[in-house]
Amino acid sequence: MGKGTICFCKEVKASVVRSKIRKLELDTLVDVQLATGAATGCGRCRPDVQLILDEEAARRKEKGHQLKLRFE
Ligand code: FES
Repeated sequence: MGKGTICFCKEVKASVVRSKIRKLELDTLVDVQLATGAATGCGRCRPDVQLILDEEAARRKEKGHQLKLRFE
């Protein structure tokens, strides 16, 4: 997923969506919609926003796994 505009209805960039997910630890589509406005118009971008959410969830899980390994 690139960093360009992801939601054309609300003019939200993918990098902004990702950054908000990380900073605010968002984990649902509704949270992202409230925080960024993305995916609150026509809905065409919802799958892409969800993809970023899924990528960030996997990243968080991997990071947690690495921390766990470090302390074992
Ligand atoms: S492109 Fe995101 S709601 Fe329409």
